[in-house]
Amino acid sequence: MNYGHFDDAAREYVITRPDTPRPWSNYLGSTEYGAIITNHAGGYSFYRSGATGRFLRMRFNGAPLDQPGRYFYLRDRHSGDFWSAAWQPVGKPLDRYESVCRHGTAYTILESRYEAISTEATYFVPLGQTFEYWRLKVTNTSAQRRELSVFTYCEFANLWETWQDLVNLQYSQFITEASLEDGILGITCNPAYDFDGDLTGCNRSWMAVTGAPLAGVETVRERFLGPYGGYARPDAVVKGRCSNFLAQGDNVCGGQQVDLTLEPGETRELVVLLGIGTVASHGKRTVAEFGSGARCEAELQKLKAAWHAPLASLQISTPDPDLDHMVNVWNAYNALITYAWSRSASLVYNGERDGLGFRDTVQDMLGAIPLLREGVLGRLELMLTGQLQNGGAIPVIKPFSHRPGQEKAPPDSEYRSDDCLWFFNAVPAYVAETGDAGFYGKVLPYADGGQASVLGHLRRALEFNLERTGRNGLPCGLAADWNDCIKLGYRGESVFVAFQVRFGLDVYAGIAARLGQPAEAAWAKGELARLDEKIQKVCWDGEWFIWAIGQDGTIFGTKSFPEGQVYINTQVWAVLSGAATPAQATQALETMKERLATPYGVMLCDPPFVKADKEIMKATLFNTGIKENAGIFSHTQSWAVMAEVLQGNGDQAYDYYRAFMPSAYNDRADLREVEPYVHCQTTYSKTNRNFGAGRVPWLSGTASWAYYSATHWVLGVRPELSGLRIDPCIPRAWPGFTMRRHFRGKNVSVEVTNPGGVSRGVKTLTVDGEPVAGQVVPAERLREGSRIVAVMG
Ligand code: GLC
Repeated sequence: MNYGHFDDAAREYVITRPDTPRPWSNYLGSTEYGAIITNHAGGYSFYRSGATGRFLRMRFNGAPLDQPGRYFYLRDRHSGDFWSAAWQPVGKPLDRYESVCRHGTAYTILESRYEAISTEATYFVPLGQTFEYWRLKVTNTSAQRRELSVFTYCEFANLWETWQDLVNLQYSQFITEASLEDGILGITCNPAYDFDGDLTGCNRSWMAVTGAPLAGVETVRERFLGPYGGYARPDAVVKGRCSNFLAQGDNVCGGQQVDLTLEPGETRELVVLLGIGTVASHGKRTVAEFGSGARCEAELQKLKAAWHAPLASLQISTPDPDLDHMVNVWNAYNALITYAWSRSASLVYNGERDGLGFRDTVQDMLGAIPLLREGVLGRLELMLTGQLQNGGAIPVIKPFSHRPGQEKAPPDSEYRSDDCLWFFNAVPAYVAETGDAGFYGKVLPYADGGQASVLGHLRRALEFNLERTGRNGLPCGLAADWNDCIKLGYRGESVFVAFQVRFGLDVYAGIAARLGQPAEAAWAKGELARLDEKIQKVCWDGEWFIWAIGQDGTIFGTKSFPEGQVYINTQVWAVLSGAATPAQATQALETMKERLATPYGVMLCDPPFVKADKEIMKATLFNTGIKENAGIFSHTQSWAVMAEVLQGNGDQAYDYYRAFMPSAYNDRADLREVEPYVHCQTTYSKTNRNFGAGRVPWLSGTASWAYYSATHWVLGVRPELSGLRIDPCIPRAWPGFTMRRHFRGKNVSVEVTNPGGVSRGVKTLTVDGEPVAGQVVPAERLREGSRIVAVMG
């Protein structure tokens, strides 16, 4: 079933059938003022933190999943009939109610048509501001004059705190208050906090509507909804009037009523502004400055331009329009949103994971680097300063309170074995994109004191694992490696991390050599050779690489262990790290295909865990066929793609890519259920009755790896310190593709043709008509508008 389509020119996904299998969501705002909205106008808002800065309420895991939100109700004052500007929450019959939702880059537009009244509600947070706009245009398309009342509605979260809003009700409901000053609603959720202008936890919001006089307000939830009315049938709307009662305790809400009389064909525009701070500190001046329809429109255009600019950094045209939708708009946007919010706020993440998860955030950089370039430097440095002197990392970095040099190291039991190893992907990618090799020499503090150059940080990352090894000399798994569900501790060994260390040593040797530090390079090469020996001694099972070795010597991911026999990560990372011999690489990927590939992606492992020790293999706790227990874990799919690319198998690589690419499911949305325009964390696999259904949309490591693997590996346009490598590995049937890319301050085009129908190999390469030797176009030969032409063969 198809619920919508991609509109790449507008950079929007357009939902034309509102009864999507689940609410489909979008993000508004920034890391200062964040907000989630669905195609039903459900969602919430928060300042800096989804958990501790939450001021607009949405009840998580409700049914439907997204209520309440930012609602406009409309009521015909003659018939008494009422509806909402989004299909939900009133939910009029779909044979009489038409709706279109346009999710765009940090804005959402909801259009409705019902009883000859059209509405268009536009939601966004203007750039750099701490308020949100809800703009409503109402048009009378009938031949009669129509008299309508419009009601706004949202709920304010008690104490600006997700958890308190749920549990501390005997207290938090009785410190709320509403006021009305100059027609602006003031909402106080906690008067105890002495507001001095600092918005952190300020517990104060304001709300106003312009474009028509305020006819009334309703500020207590139960008065607006009625004790038994609910969002679909709110009392105030049924009755057609508000009581003007100003809350002094209980649940506070933003109910405002305006009455409109519309002549045939007439359009009226209302602008709702909802922000944080007090009416006096922020409300009045914001309404005065931003309250007009013209200003709202100008702010929308400014916002679009600001988001479209990074997307313009990399645009492609390939034989697969589904890939173009993703790379040109949605995968890029998904990567930027994930980079911004990590795993803290979505319809699923409710702030419980507040802050920047270390490993996730370092990986998220890969998707953001090509789009933001030097703009990621602050974040990269923040993460480097989250590394401890011992080379390990603080598991979660709090971006607004992190104090490099003064943080405490976590207890031994909390170290993950992979955290800092992701620097070997992110740091060289940053240097390759920007050309700033001097960054390796930049001195940055460790989280808990002391300092080192970036190269020193990288070396310390390797030493952390080299100093913590088990009985076979492989790195210990500690509290977790990439896989949160494996706890190998200080004696059990992670083969995945062994491959990551191998990869890191190789990268480090390359950097050191280029920086003219041969002793460092030799050190890394020596370690690498020693590690390779150990890997070859214990990690190959004949047809695939094992997964891990428990502290009692149990081998996971091996023929003789009945559960989790084959594990995707060690097959693909054996190839990515260069640890596998050519024969092993071919065999391991063949085994992976045979044992793990499904039409919806490659399973994390198979068979699932049912009996394995839960203390070590926590995946046993999950139902089989989901998440780390043999689910199709989206994050890992790109590694399978990249491994096939390294082997030159363009057809297989792309088969794997399409299997997890959201847009490839646009016409099968009932199967996938979650949004067809963004990646999800996990998909149910074959042992589960929900086979094919996706879960946990938006925030996961998938967006950045999917973007990176498509652009840098499948299409193969890869920045290196010296220039732009052109090394595509595409399906043989593709006649070619083009890419427009920003690189080191210039916009260049890349045209690849594939006359011989090969997957890999570049026969000739030119820049501006002049031949290039090898496959790297030197940066100094690129000018604004340069044309790179590659002929495969
Ligand atoms: C989740 C976590 C990520 C972890 C992965 C595998 O996506 O956010 O940190 O690597 O699960 O367990």
